[in-house]
Amino acid sequence: TVKAIRGALLDIQQVVTNPEQLEDSLRYVSDGLLIIDQGKVAWHGRWEDGKDMLPEGLRICDYRGKLVVPGFVDTHIHYPQMEIIGAYGEQLLEWLNTYVFPTEQKYGNKRYASEMSGLFVNELLKNGTTTAMVFCSVHPESVDALFEECDRRNMRMIAGKVMMDRNAPDALLDTPESSYQDSRRLLKKWHKRNRLLYAITPRFAPTSSPEQLEKAMALREEFPDAYVQTHLSENLNEIEWVKSLYPEHDCYLDVYNHYRLTGERSVYAHCVHLTDQEWKVMEETGSSVAFCPTSNMYLGSGLFNYRRAADNGVRVGMATDVGAGTSFNMFETLNEAYKVVQLQKEKLPAIEGFYRATLGGAHSLYLDDCIGNFNVGKEADFVVLDPVATQVQQLRWDNSKALDEKLFVLMTLGDDRNIYRTYVDGRLVYSSTR
Ligand code: GUN
Ligand code: FE
Repeated sequence: TVKAIRGALLDIQQVVTNPEQLEDSLRYVSDGLLIIDQGKVAWHGRWEDGKDMLPEGLRICDYRGKLVVPGFVDTHIHYPQMEIIGAYGEQLLEWLNTYVFPTEQKYGNKRYASEMSGLFVNELLKNGTTTAMVFCSVHPESVDALFEECDRRNMRMIAGKVMMDRNAPDALLDTPESSYQDSRRLLKKWHKRNRLLYAITPRFAPTSSPEQLEKAMALREEFPDAYVQTHLSENLNEIEWVKSLYPEHDCYLDVYNHYRLTGERSVYAHCVHLTDQEWKVMEETGSSVAFCPTSNMYLGSGLFNYRRAADNGVRVGMATDVGAGTSFNMFETLNEAYKVVQLQKEKLPAIEGFYRATLGGAHSLYLDDCIGNFNVGKEADFVVLDPVATQVQQLRWDNSKALDEKLFVLMTLGDDRNIYRTYVDGRLVYSSTR
């Protein structure tokens, strides 16, 4: 079970508290060697320094001319929404009613959910994403289907059953008690089984009664090492709605905070319209943000204040938010993120984008001790990139000198054509036919 990978290796050496430190943390080995043993990184360094350690007769995976990077981390995505990407013409609340809720009803059928889970995981791997934090539907069957699929490939994945007991079609509603029992059973079945992790998943405040959020709180107290994922402050009408449903709370985040759903391993998607007071709570509680640029542009939600979050030490990960997001691909997501930051007259350097998509994303999911870079002992999830998959990329690549310039070419022009191979747990799980 020993594997040797030869190629240019690029990763971020360590978690940074200030993005300015990233320059010194970028690690590039132009002719590198990665030795994988039992799904973990056993050695990382220069080919010259490591080649004599390799066992006699071991076949080398030779990726010279390619770029080997850690697997991408998508910190927020909905697998039942894969089939409604690009649904036309609505903003959040209308989009949920018109497209999302009718579609998610199909995921009570286990066979259908299994079939879609297979397509979904294939699509992640085809885009170099090896870890994701995933919303299933309200149906327990949808959760079993996804976890079974991920377990087969031994992926590091986080997912959970949507808890939702109001403001949606009857067929999609659970109750405080049933959501508690179902989530608890799924959590006990899947959390920490192999590399899988469970997230307590109240959809968002408008679709949960106070009684249901109390049940979510009870689960979190009973299983303090489980995750929490939900949506926060995405759209102005949504925020007004939360005010009317929870008038006794001063702000949207206060609803979740009151039910002790903030804190480590709590991941909030969007956070587009947070107030200063809410940002303070994010900072103080160690809660994480999933930045969803393609989704926020697509639904016209607004511009995420990336620099406010990143420069104040809030954990930020990149997220596609498919199906409101329009791409599974992390390069395309970074490309849009760059534009969102530009529109606020700020910058998103390529190294920082690369960090958010790998080690920074892992950090936001409290997984930086096991994934995100090539440190010895890390789990061997990685991607072999073809940095020049198109003619235009080739021209831009040849015209770029510094490494961060080349990375920026990938970030602006890259897509799934640049994903040459994907490895999970040290094993090849996707190979491009190009
Ligand atoms: N808010 C509540 N549910 C959803 C969802 O499915 N997608 C997005 N983008 N926002 C939400
Ligand atoms: Fe979402």
